[in-house]
Amino acid sequence: MRPLIAGNWKMHGTLREAARLAEGVREGVKGADLLVCPPAVHLHPVAVVLLGSPVAVGAQDCHAAAKGAHTGDLSAEMVRDVGATHVILGHSERRANHGETDADVRAKAEAALAAGLIPIVCVGETEAERLAGEAEAVVTKQLAGSLPDGFAAAGGIVAYEPVWAIGTGRTPTEAEVAAIHGTMRQSLVGRFGEKAQGTRLLYGGSVKPGNAAGIFALANVDGALVGGASLVAADFLAIAQAF
Ligand code: G3P
Repeated sequence: MRPLIAGNWKMHGTLREAARLAEGVREGVKGADLLVCPPAVHLHPVAVVLLGSPVAVGAQDCHAAAKGAHTGDLSAEMVRDVGATHVILGHSERRANHGETDADVRAKAEAALAAGLIPIVCVGETEAERLAGEAEAVVTKQLAGSLPDGFAAAGGIVAYEPVWAIGTGRTPTEAEVAAIHGTMRQSLVGRFGEKAQGTRLLYGGSVKPGNAAGIFALANVDGALVGGASLVAADFLAIAQAF
């Protein structure tokens, strides 16, 4: 399947820097789909910079409700309306900092699908869970609780991001990544059927130009969700070209 390299810009940059970064990646690459996920206030201007470009735009979160009294929140329809086609949901930073549960993530993913957005649902174990030998069980449980029915048929995407690998420069071994991705594939096929063979499974956590090719060569790794390295256009493109 065609890989997806997604950049999660998190809470970084000014409007000017966001526009410049989007300019820097707007040509895309031949062998992969690219997606950038700027902070919400930069979604629309970045989408304007990327008009006519093969690079898509995604949000970093959305609310589960379609509208209502939710001060400070954004609905899936709103982010779609300003140019997003994808939305990252259940990132470990939101699970940890905003107390999002699997049920919350599932409700948001349902809202995203209803609004015509493709959800990228993040899962991943903490370091303590990995050391306790629970990584596969944790990820399997998160998948079961966070993905709504119809997820695979609608083109939903999963990102495996071990919490301890995010922003640390540390990554699991290639064998560990392959094992988790294989387990995720099995569990998705078990729930959604053969359709889930086509579900993109991204790896995220300290992906850099130097380690991308090794990770991308693994079975069931269909792209990456890149944090820090996606803030430098040349690095983001180099990662995409490594596929
Ligand atoms: O969502 C991507 C992210 O959490 C990974 O961040 O900086 O380790 O690439 P980073």
